[in-house]
Amino acid sequence: MNKFKNLTVYFNGEFLPWEEARVHVFSPAVKYGAGVFEGICAYMSDNGMNIFRLGEHLARLEYSQQVMRFERIFTAEEIGLPLKELVKRNGFNKTVHIRPTIYVDGTGESAAAGPVGISITAVERPRPTIAMEGCSVQISSWQRLADLSMPTRVKANANYNNSRFAAMQAQVDGYTTALMLNSRGHIAEGPGMCFFMVRGGQVVTPTITSSILESITRDTILTLCRDELRLEPIERDIERSELFSASEAFFCGTAWEITPITNIDGFVIGDGGPGEITGLLQKAYFDIVEGRTADKRDWLTPV
Ligand SMILES: Cc1ncc(COP(=O)(O)O)c(C=O)c1O
Repeated sequence: MNKFKNLTVYFNGEFLPWEEARVHVFSPAVKYGAGVFEGICAYMSDNGMNIFRLGEHLARLEYSQQVMRFERIFTAEEIGLPLKELVKRNGFNKTVHIRPTIYVDGTGESAAAGPVGISITAVERPRPTIAMEGCSVQISSWQRLADLSMPTRVKANANYNNSRFAAMQAQVDGYTTALMLNSRGHIAEGPGMCFFMVRGGQVVTPTITSSILESITRDTILTLCRDELRLEPIERDIERSELFSASEAFFCGTAWEITPITNIDGFVIGDGGPGEITGLLQKAYFDIVEGRTADKRDWLTPV
């Protein structure tokens, strides 16, 4: 039973029923994961639906295509128009997760060659209960891929096999998810989200040269710390044993929003519940994305 079957998909210039948006099994996209994508959220507010930080997501998508040396680059403008139209056409009235994907199609003999296709999907995404209750985390024995072998700041489909190994191992071992170390042994990030901790009253997150995706939510949180909480966040290397004396920890990302971490490798973080600064950041974040506070940074694009 396909719960998405009544949705419309944007596929290479057309709006098609879900089941008709197909890619051939012989395409480099399927054979090698030769594609790049974005995960973007649109939120319902009293004034209608808004997409959060669309410009930044589409800029990253252009960058991802360039680094992948795609034959043709879809510009932010070319993607933005059908993306907004797709959200409208599907008539959503709840939080939506939007995924533009640019992929190598055709019968190319190598992952590099071939015409480039585009699809955009949008599906409703309710906030999971762990967003409020928090999650448990395993320090993964899988290392976060290094920029020497795969570009970590490119949102490439193939990168997510690394994420998948870590996430699946954590689940098999009874944790909600994983936190990966980088090749230098420092904290990198989760399978689809960045990491923050509060230690000694300071908000700390790994630097953008820690083999992480340059997360837009991470940037949002750094901004909210400075502007709304009047806390100067610190970007630096984090060592594993520091985690066990953190008073708070949380993940952030478009899909994960701000999700408290209550336990790492069996060590209870703080008092075992979501922390105070985490709660303040969550409130500031949800108020902005859901349109309850003024959009003074132009982060919202009305649909
Ligand atoms: C590996 C990885 N890190 C971090 C993030 C968070 O990035 P953003 O805040 O831009 O969604 C994501 C999100 O998709 C991700 O896949």
